[in-house]
Amino acid sequence: MLDSSSAVRRATGTPASRYRIQFNKPGLVGHELTYIADAILRGHSAGDGSYTSRCHELLEKELGCCRALLTTSCTHALEMCALLLDIQPGDEVIVPSFTFVSTANAFVLRGAKPVFADVRPDTLNLDETLLEQFITPRTKAIVPVHYAGVGCEMDVILSTAERHGIKVVEDNAHGLFARYKGKYLGTFGQLATQSFHETKNVICGEGGALIINDPLYVERADIIREKGTNRSRFYRGEVDKYSWVDVGSSFLPSDLLAAFLLAQLEKYEEIRSTRQRIWSAYAEGLSEWACNSGVSLPHIPPHVEQSYHMFYMLMPSLDTRTRLINQLKARGILAVFHYVPLHLSEMGMRCGGYSGACPITESVSDRLMRLPFYNDLSVDEQTEVIEAIVAFQC
Ligand SMILES: Cc1ncc(COP(=O)(O)O)c(C=O)c1O
Repeated sequence: MLDSSSAVRRATGTPASRYRIQFNKPGLVGHELTYIADAILRGHSAGDGSYTSRCHELLEKELGCCRALLTTSCTHALEMCALLLDIQPGDEVIVPSFTFVSTANAFVLRGAKPVFADVRPDTLNLDETLLEQFITPRTKAIVPVHYAGVGCEMDVILSTAERHGIKVVEDNAHGLFARYKGKYLGTFGQLATQSFHETKNVICGEGGALIINDPLYVERADIIREKGTNRSRFYRGEVDKYSWVDVGSSFLPSDLLAAFLLAQLEKYEEIRSTRQRIWSAYAEGLSEWACNSGVSLPHIPPHVEQSYHMFYMLMPSLDTRTRLINQLKARGILAVFHYVPLHLSEMGMRCGGYSGACPITESVSDRLMRLPFYNDLSVDEQTEVIEAIVAFQC
């Protein structure tokens, strides 16, 4: 039998890495193991059990959205958005090039053409001033990504979309409970998506959520998420048998994952303040060195409250980034780069991407590095990372 300390060791993932200071270390924050045991003992480990309902209620109450639906990943939540918007072959969807593949792929799966837009040099978010030039009669959606949980310029994005009758899907994988002008990210677009992947602030291994802000999509979302059946209505006692009524897939996670997730969601405030402390310690400890070394640290506009998802640095060049990452590795510290421009990927080029199309993305992608960032990062470990960085000459 597994005793609780070995269960915790396994759950916290040690010793999984050859680095002394890992880039990410998923950890426990509350009642995860108790809730999972309870879900098993209740005899409901499939989707949509009581833990899933409690996660839905918590997200709906906190965000004030019409509906929150857990999914197996943010990727799947994005795929649900493409189905809900009835994306058809030949439709166009505007996405930032500086993002994860799923932001675009979810729509490409339905035959859409991704239109890659560049990002702003300050926040690395979709450059809202470029949108007009990309809109055509075929444009069906704009998918802003709140990079690092720092809100995009939603006022301009929403007014541009509204003017042209285009839907907005917020890819909020990084920004749960962050705000733009006082309002939660994920509550601006008709639809939004969250990620609970183990690298995010609130986790359950693999997981996500679809956030619905327009009631028009609520009923069909339930159906699409349940393999195209009206099973949710059946469970609610609204129909006496369920059957196949639309397209769909199996987008709902096991209640065991929801049990893990609920324990994390309940501790959100603690997670946030821990991450805020870590983020601020990096910002303070690195600011003078960065200023003297031509390195940029994250820019947080005053009207935005970020999620403290990550701490990144923009190095002066690809060469300095490579050298610093290698120097940290030699000291047992893992720092990593992030997205490769989508428009220059093999698939992106097949969709019309070419070198020079998104110059900010191309430059940032070569120069950005992310520092170790997780709830259990100790003060000593973080001090060691900072000292190793400030010893580096660009
Ligand atoms: C911006 C963005 N969108 C979507 C995803 C996909 O998330 P998931 O792994 O939950 O599918 C990621 C993954 O990190 C991401 O960074």
